[in-house]
Amino acid sequence: MTDKIKDLVTAMTLEEKALLCSGKNFWQMEGIERLGIPSVMVTDGPHGLRKQAGEADHLGLNQSVKATCFPPAVTSASSWDKAALYDMGQAIGEECVQEEVAVVLGPGTNIKRSPLCGRNFEYFSEDPYLAGEMAAAWISGVQSKGIGTSLKHFAANNQEKARLVSNSVVDERALREIYLAPFEKAVKQAQPWTVMCSYNRINGVYSCENEWLLTEVLRNEWGFQGLVMTDWGAMNDRVKALKAGLELEMPGPDPYNDKKIVDAVRNGELDEAILDRAAGRLLTVIMRAGEVHKKEYDAAAHHNLARRIAAESAVLLKNDGMLPLKKENSYAVIGAFAETPRYQGAGSSRIHPHQIDCVLDSLRESGIAFEYAPGYELEQDTINPVLLEEAAACAKGRDGVLVFAGLPDSYESEGFDRTHLNLPKSHTALIEAVTAVNPHVTVVLLCGSAILMPWRDRVESILLTYLGGEAAGSACADVLTGTVNPSGRLAETFPLSLEDTPCCENFAGEGKDVEYRESILVGYRYYDWAEKPVAFPFGYGLSYTSFSYDSMEIVWDEKEEKGEARITVTNTGETSGSEVVQLYIGKAQSGVMRAVRELKGFQKVFLEPGELREVVIGLDRRSFSCYDTNRSCWTVEAGTYQIYAASSSRDLKLKKDLMLPGKELSHIPGYDAAETVKDGHFAADRKQFKRLFPDELPLTPDDGRITLNTTVKEIMASEKGKALLGGLVEGYSGRYSGDDDVSRMMLAMLQDMPLRSLAMFGAVEMETLEEMVREIGRP
Ligand code: BGC
Repeated sequence: MTDKIKDLVTAMTLEEKALLCSGKNFWQMEGIERLGIPSVMVTDGPHGLRKQAGEADHLGLNQSVKATCFPPAVTSASSWDKAALYDMGQAIGEECVQEEVAVVLGPGTNIKRSPLCGRNFEYFSEDPYLAGEMAAAWISGVQSKGIGTSLKHFAANNQEKARLVSNSVVDERALREIYLAPFEKAVKQAQPWTVMCSYNRINGVYSCENEWLLTEVLRNEWGFQGLVMTDWGAMNDRVKALKAGLELEMPGPDPYNDKKIVDAVRNGELDEAILDRAAGRLLTVIMRAGEVHKKEYDAAAHHNLARRIAAESAVLLKNDGMLPLKKENSYAVIGAFAETPRYQGAGSSRIHPHQIDCVLDSLRESGIAFEYAPGYELEQDTINPVLLEEAAACAKGRDGVLVFAGLPDSYESEGFDRTHLNLPKSHTALIEAVTAVNPHVTVVLLCGSAILMPWRDRVESILLTYLGGEAAGSACADVLTGTVNPSGRLAETFPLSLEDTPCCENFAGEGKDVEYRESILVGYRYYDWAEKPVAFPFGYGLSYTSFSYDSMEIVWDEKEEKGEARITVTNTGETSGSEVVQLYIGKAQSGVMRAVRELKGFQKVFLEPGELREVVIGLDRRSFSCYDTNRSCWTVEAGTYQIYAASSSRDLKLKKDLMLPGKELSHIPGYDAAETVKDGHFAADRKQFKRLFPDELPLTPDDGRITLNTTVKEIMASEKGKALLGGLVEGYSGRYSGDDDVSRMMLAMLQDMPLRSLAMFGAVEMETLEEMVREIGRP
């Protein structure tokens, strides 16, 4: 805290300090005029700016000012290009400067525990190393412009179902190695100005009031210097949260909670020094924001950047020679997504773009001859036989067919999870109809998460463009025509079936408790450990050229506990292109349960045909450590490690062993594959899961009483609750009776909404709600 800030805190009254602890309104932090403290704006995020000039909301319902819509995290992570994420961050920072936004709410770096999570499009990866690197690069980019970021959603927020009340039951090793690790990396490498806590509980305690998480781990262990804010409406117990290390409640204002803070100081429940510390942290962010001067950004340059990132993030999953397209051929382009692309996900990250590129226009401009047929209706799952027939007729006899398919908005969104991994029936039927009349088919996929492709052997090529942002169309054409050589790699595994996913049985929980039974066995860590085949492995992606991995040298300085892998790679094809050199480390002989190998470094390198380059990837102690729950620290186990240079998690090119001194690791509980994988599926039972915990399973505390955390569903199940609160709930749900995205999302969320959220959504005053809850509790 600077002297200036200390003086300001001293000059503030108790009420003013409390006032600062909740927002001024939906998007602004509070200011204090008499002391010259301005009110600054914080707003979504993360793949562009969602600044609402008019009506405010936290679910992307109302319009926002125009901004560049960059590719969402699912896409940009597939670039495996830290520089690209940094550039995107810088550009978003520039947009914040113009729009006078102090803090942009992102990045979201939660782990993709299951491909079903409705919000996976907003997250980077199933792998903590990759997710952390991408988040850190983005944060550094934004903050280089004097704009803050909010690393979210901290932590273990890996599903949308019941997100306001769910309890993520996770063993400490999984927390440390998987779920906290990307946050740790981003905090240590990039020091975000703010961190946003998640809605859920972790091992029984709400994130907003989790002292272990917000103070012990985040500040004391990782050295976080900024402030912690709530997700919108994630506040539970205000005073407890302040003590735990949460400074800012959003949105605001919340005079009800501000008063609780004042009362708690007055009655001795809260030490005023804690409030002073919080005020100091809040002022530090506000003052930093004041140092930036408004300047216009170059929207055309940002659009080009969005196009470059989208193109280099596209993953070529299969290519039997149909791509790149040839000018002398005549093609059919089929699928309504070609005309109206799905380019971002629904919810609080929805950006209002400057322009939307259409692939049909871009293909035409590049001289590709084709005819177009829609093949399906945009928002309909059902098959339209007329459109299908027309599409088949269009496809017949062409040199090649491009089918645009994927997931519509109604399939994945903030607020609810998917229930299966299939494409809409109408899209699958289209692929089938077209492959029946023409063997030369390329499927272009637009979706925000992994899907199943039972037809993949019947098509020649598959290009996964995910959600490409506002330049999705032109970027897609760049790759299809070969102007850009694809270099995206999967940041998540594409499984062969939903049942193959390790958390299948425990996603997304029956009641409030969600048992993360698979522990550290998330994504490829599980598939490799259980030796399961997959459709497309983590790290996978093809190119129009080829690369050879020529040699690898490992250098390690034991005293410094630092080293590097030096890998020589050559472009052996005839086209220039980029390779993502991946470094995995395993330990075949180990006293603890381990993934077969884990990503510990990567680098994207651009090579001209015939060019050779030495790629250097740094190693440190952490590259070889696992979280030792007995000693409560990261420990290097003594013995031999296998280091792999690879072009995917399952395409290992070179291997070197490295012997390291270290400690013995044993007695750390884990699973045995023979015991927990039944009929090919992961099925650890409660008893086995319980062994990963030192004590009882930390479930949701529940003494049967109705509280502000009782959900709407629970209330409506009791006669007394229904009588008292039924009208309120029905009045609220009546606002969302349409068949639109928003209604779907709101109604999905309503059932699992705690009563306190009804106050946040303006359905009722908190005091009235508290009185109602007390009334229900009376005999
Ligand atoms: C989301 C956050 C978002 C906030 C503000 C919440 O619903 O979970 O990611 O930043 O709203 O819009």
